[in-house]
Amino acid sequence: MGSPSTDTGLPPIHHPCAMAFYEWLADRGPMQRLMTPLREEVAGLAKGVVLEVGAGSGRTFPYYSPEQVTRVEAVEPDAAMLRSAHERKASARVPISFVQARAEALPFADTTFDSAVATLVFCSVEGPQQAMHELLRVLKPGGRLLLVEHVRSHHPLVAWLQDRLVPFTTQLAGNCHWNRDTERQVRESGFLIRSVRFSRTGILPIIVLHAVRPAVGGEEHG
Ligand SMILES: C[S@@+](CC[C@H](N)C(=O)[O-])C[C@H]1O[C@@H](n2cnc3c(N)ncnc32)[C@H](O)[C@@H]1O
Repeated sequence: MGSPSTDTGLPPIHHPCAMAFYEWLADRGPMQRLMTPLREEVAGLAKGVVLEVGAGSGRTFPYYSPEQVTRVEAVEPDAAMLRSAHERKASARVPISFVQARAEALPFADTTFDSAVATLVFCSVEGPQQAMHELLRVLKPGGRLLLVEHVRSHHPLVAWLQDRLVPFTTQLAGNCHWNRDTERQVRESGFLIRSVRFSRTGILPIIVLHAVRPAVGGEEHG
Protein backbone atom coordinates (compact mmCIF):
# COMPACT_ATOMS: atom_id res chain seq x y z
CA MET A 1 0.00 0.00 0.00
CA GLY A 2 1.30 3.50 -0.86
CA SER A 3 1.75 6.22 1.77
CA PRO A 4 -1.37 8.27 2.56
CA SER A 5 -1.83 11.60 0.84
CA THR A 6 -3.79 14.81 1.27
CA ASP A 7 -6.71 15.86 -0.92
CA THR A 8 -4.15 17.35 -3.29
CA GLY A 9 -2.02 14.21 -3.60
CA LEU A 10 0.94 15.59 -1.60
CA PRO A 11 2.11 13.50 1.36
CA PRO A 12 0.48 14.66 4.62
CA ILE A 13 2.51 16.41 7.30
CA HIS A 14 3.04 14.51 10.54
CA HIS A 15 5.03 16.00 13.43
CA PRO A 16 3.35 14.40 16.46
CA CYS A 17 5.87 15.46 19.13
CA ALA A 18 6.30 19.02 17.88
CA MET A 19 2.55 19.53 17.51
CA ALA A 20 1.82 18.01 20.95
CA PHE A 21 4.34 20.45 22.43
CA TYR A 22 2.82 23.36 20.47
CA GLU A 23 -0.67 22.47 21.70
CA TRP A 24 0.60 22.27 25.30
CA LEU A 25 2.29 25.67 24.91
CA ALA A 26 -0.74 27.23 23.23
CA ASP A 27 -2.88 26.27 26.24
CA ARG A 28 -0.57 28.09 28.69
CA GLY A 29 -1.58 31.51 29.99
CA PRO A 30 1.29 33.61 28.52
CA MET A 31 0.74 32.21 25.01
CA GLN A 32 -3.01 32.72 25.30
CA ARG A 33 -2.52 36.31 26.48
CA LEU A 34 -0.25 36.91 23.47
CA MET A 35 -2.28 35.15 20.80
CA THR A 36 -5.94 35.66 21.75
CA PRO A 37 -6.05 39.41 20.89
CA LEU A 38 -4.14 38.73 17.65
CA ARG A 39 -6.55 35.96 16.66
CA GLU A 40 -9.47 38.30 17.44
CA GLU A 41 -7.85 41.03 15.34
CA VAL A 42 -7.30 38.99 12.15
CA ALA A 43 -10.57 37.05 12.43
CA GLY A 44 -12.34 40.38 12.97
CA LEU A 45 -10.97 41.65 9.64
CA ALA A 46 -12.02 38.51 7.75
CA LYS A 47 -15.14 38.83 5.59
CA GLY A 48 -17.31 36.68 3.32
CA VAL A 49 -16.06 33.23 2.38
CA VAL A 50 -12.87 32.67 4.37
CA LEU A 51 -9.95 30.27 3.85
CA GLU A 52 -7.89 29.45 6.93
CA VAL A 53 -4.66 27.68 5.99
CA GLY A 54 -2.75 25.63 8.55
CA ALA A 55 -5.78 25.90 10.82
CA GLY A 56 -4.16 23.49 13.31
CA SER A 57 -6.58 22.54 16.06
CA GLY A 58 -8.90 25.43 15.21
CA ARG A 59 -7.86 27.95 17.86
CA THR A 60 -9.04 30.90 15.72
CA PHE A 61 -12.49 29.43 14.97
CA PRO A 62 -14.33 31.12 17.90
CA TYR A 63 -13.34 34.61 16.72
CA TYR A 64 -15.01 34.64 13.28
CA SER A 65 -18.08 36.84 13.38
CA PRO A 66 -21.37 35.57 11.89
CA GLU A 67 -22.15 39.20 10.97
CA GLN A 68 -19.16 39.30 8.60
CA VAL A 69 -18.21 35.74 7.70
CA THR A 70 -20.40 33.44 5.60
CA ARG A 71 -18.32 30.30 6.16
CA VAL A 72 -14.74 29.15 6.80
CA GLU A 73 -12.88 26.51 4.79
CA ALA A 74 -10.21 25.16 7.16
CA VAL A 75 -7.16 23.62 5.46
CA GLU A 76 -4.74 21.55 7.52
CA PRO A 77 -2.26 18.89 6.31
CA ASP A 78 -1.70 17.09 9.65
CA ALA A 79 -4.39 14.47 10.32
CA ALA A 80 -4.02 14.68 14.12
CA MET A 81 -4.41 18.48 14.11
CA LEU A 82 -7.36 18.13 11.76
CA ARG A 83 -9.07 15.76 14.22
CA SER A 84 -8.63 18.33 17.02
CA ALA A 85 -9.98 21.04 14.70
CA HIS A 86 -13.12 18.94 14.13
CA GLU A 87 -13.60 18.81 17.92
CA ARG A 88 -13.19 22.59 18.19
CA LYS A 89 -15.78 23.23 15.48
CA ALA A 90 -18.40 23.42 18.26
CA SER A 91 -16.75 26.63 19.50
CA ALA A 92 -17.33 28.41 16.16
CA ARG A 93 -20.23 30.78 15.45
CA VAL A 94 -19.93 30.31 11.66
CA PRO A 95 -20.07 27.18 9.47
CA ILE A 96 -16.67 25.47 9.18
CA SER A 97 -15.66 22.79 6.67
CA PHE A 98 -12.38 20.90 6.54
CA VAL A 99 -9.89 19.82 3.90
CA GLN A 100 -6.65 17.94 4.49
CA ALA A 101 -4.24 19.76 2.18
CA ARG A 102 -1.10 21.85 2.08
CA ALA A 103 -0.99 25.58 1.44
CA GLU A 104 1.33 24.91 -1.53
CA ALA A 105 -1.44 23.07 -3.43
CA LEU A 106 -4.88 24.35 -2.49
CA PRO A 107 -7.76 22.26 -3.88
CA PHE A 108 -9.93 25.26 -4.77
CA ALA A 109 -10.80 27.08 -7.97
CA ASP A 110 -9.31 30.50 -8.77
CA THR A 111 -10.96 33.51 -7.03
CA THR A 112 -13.00 31.43 -4.56
CA PHE A 113 -12.36 33.38 -1.33
CA ASP A 114 -12.95 36.88 0.04
CA SER A 115 -10.36 36.50 2.80
CA ALA A 116 -7.49 34.20 3.76
CA VAL A 117 -6.17 33.81 7.31
CA ALA A 118 -3.05 32.10 8.67
CA THR A 119 -1.68 32.21 12.21
CA LEU A 120 1.82 30.87 12.98
CA VAL A 121 1.92 28.85 9.75
CA PHE A 122 4.37 30.38 7.26
CA CYS A 123 7.34 29.61 9.53
CA SER A 124 6.82 25.91 8.84
CA VAL A 125 5.43 25.71 5.29
CA GLU A 126 7.94 23.85 3.09
CA GLY A 127 7.36 26.04 0.03
CA PRO A 128 6.32 29.48 1.32
CA GLN A 129 6.59 31.22 -2.05
CA GLN A 130 4.44 28.56 -3.74
CA ALA A 131 1.93 28.86 -0.90
CA MET A 132 1.74 32.66 -1.35
CA HIS A 133 1.07 32.19 -5.04
CA GLU A 134 -1.70 29.74 -4.21
CA LEU A 135 -3.28 32.23 -1.81
CA LEU A 136 -3.10 34.94 -4.46
CA ARG A 137 -4.76 32.57 -6.95
CA VAL A 138 -7.68 31.50 -4.74
CA LEU A 139 -8.44 34.99 -3.39
CA LYS A 140 -10.79 37.25 -5.33
CA PRO A 141 -9.35 40.52 -6.64
CA GLY A 142 -9.47 42.86 -3.66
CA GLY A 143 -9.56 39.84 -1.28
CA ARG A 144 -7.77 40.13 2.04
CA LEU A 145 -4.73 38.23 3.30
CA LEU A 146 -4.53 38.33 7.11
CA LEU A 147 -1.50 36.89 8.87
CA VAL A 148 -0.08 36.56 12.36
CA GLU A 149 3.43 35.16 11.96
CA HIS A 150 6.71 35.03 13.83
CA VAL A 151 9.40 36.32 11.51
CA ARG A 152 13.01 37.28 10.88
CA SER A 153 14.19 40.05 13.19
CA HIS A 154 15.10 43.48 11.77
CA HIS A 155 17.98 43.55 14.27
CA PRO A 156 21.09 42.13 12.50
CA LEU A 157 22.48 40.41 15.60
CA VAL A 158 19.16 38.75 16.43
CA ALA A 159 18.70 37.73 12.76
CA TRP A 160 22.20 36.22 12.81
CA LEU A 161 21.28 34.21 15.93
CA GLN A 162 17.99 33.10 14.32
CA ASP A 163 19.95 31.83 11.27
CA ARG A 164 22.21 29.78 13.59
CA LEU A 165 19.21 28.26 15.42
CA VAL A 166 17.19 27.27 12.34
CA PRO A 167 18.92 23.87 11.84
CA PHE A 168 17.68 22.95 15.33
CA THR A 169 14.22 24.55 15.22
CA THR A 170 13.38 22.88 11.91
CA GLN A 171 14.34 19.48 13.38
CA LEU A 172 12.75 19.91 16.78
CA ALA A 173 9.70 22.10 16.08
CA GLY A 174 8.01 20.67 12.99
CA ASN A 175 10.03 22.47 10.27
CA CYS A 176 9.69 25.79 12.10
CA HIS A 177 12.03 28.45 10.61
CA TRP A 178 12.78 31.27 13.03
CA ASN A 179 14.24 33.44 10.27
CA ARG A 180 11.53 33.74 7.61
CA ASP A 181 10.99 37.20 6.09
CA THR A 182 7.27 36.62 5.54
CA GLU A 183 6.49 40.28 4.82
CA ARG A 184 8.95 40.23 1.90
CA GLN A 185 7.44 36.97 0.61
CA VAL A 186 3.96 38.50 0.71
CA ARG A 187 5.12 41.59 -1.19
CA GLU A 188 7.16 39.63 -3.76
CA SER A 189 4.18 37.38 -4.50
CA GLY A 190 2.22 40.38 -5.77
CA PHE A 191 0.05 41.30 -2.78
CA LEU A 192 -0.41 44.95 -1.81
CA ILE A 193 0.47 45.38 1.85
CA ARG A 194 -1.99 47.59 3.69
CA SER A 195 -0.44 47.35 7.15
CA VAL A 196 2.22 45.47 9.09
CA ARG A 197 2.68 45.82 12.81
CA PHE A 198 5.19 44.19 15.14
CA SER A 199 3.21 43.00 18.14
CA ARG A 200 6.33 41.59 19.80
CA THR A 201 10.10 41.89 19.25
CA GLY A 202 13.05 39.84 20.60
CA ILE A 203 14.22 36.44 19.35
CA LEU A 204 10.70 35.56 18.10
CA PRO A 205 9.21 38.80 16.72
CA ILE A 206 5.56 38.55 15.70
CA ILE A 207 3.91 40.54 12.93
CA VAL A 208 0.25 41.19 12.21
CA LEU A 209 -0.05 41.73 8.47
CA HIS A 210 -2.98 42.84 6.33
CA ALA A 211 -2.53 42.67 2.54
CA VAL A 212 -4.88 42.53 -0.45
CA ARG A 213 -4.83 40.82 -3.81
CA PRO A 214 -4.72 43.71 -6.31
CA ALA A 215 -7.93 44.14 -8.25
CA VAL A 216 -7.76 43.83 -12.05
CA GLY A 217 -5.73 46.77 -13.36
CA GLY A 218 -3.70 46.94 -10.14
CA GLU A 219 -6.28 48.97 -8.16
CA GLU A 220 -7.23 47.78 -4.69
CA HIS A 221 -10.72 48.01 -3.25
CA GLY A 222 -12.77 46.71 -0.33
C1 LIG B 1 2.31 26.21 14.98
S1 LIG B 1 0.98 25.41 14.24
C2 LIG B 1 -0.27 26.72 14.20
C3 LIG B 1 -1.65 26.16 14.10
C4 LIG B 1 -2.78 27.20 14.11
N1 LIG B 1 -2.74 28.03 12.94
C5 LIG B 1 -2.74 28.04 15.35
O1 LIG B 1 -2.63 29.27 15.28
O2 LIG B 1 -2.82 27.45 16.45
C6 LIG B 1 1.47 25.32 12.52
C7 LIG B 1 0.44 24.64 11.65
O3 LIG B 1 0.83 24.77 10.27
C8 LIG B 1 0.55 23.55 9.63
N2 LIG B 1 1.37 23.42 8.42
C9 LIG B 1 2.65 23.03 8.30
N3 LIG B 1 3.03 23.00 7.01
C10 LIG B 1 1.95 23.39 6.30
C11 LIG B 1 1.69 23.53 4.91
N4 LIG B 1 2.64 23.26 4.01
N5 LIG B 1 0.47 23.94 4.52
C12 LIG B 1 -0.50 24.22 5.44
N6 LIG B 1 -0.31 24.09 6.77
C13 LIG B 1 0.89 23.67 7.20
C14 LIG B 1 0.90 22.51 10.69
O4 LIG B 1 0.35 21.23 10.41
C15 LIG B 1 0.31 23.15 11.93
O5 LIG B 1 -1.04 22.82 12.13
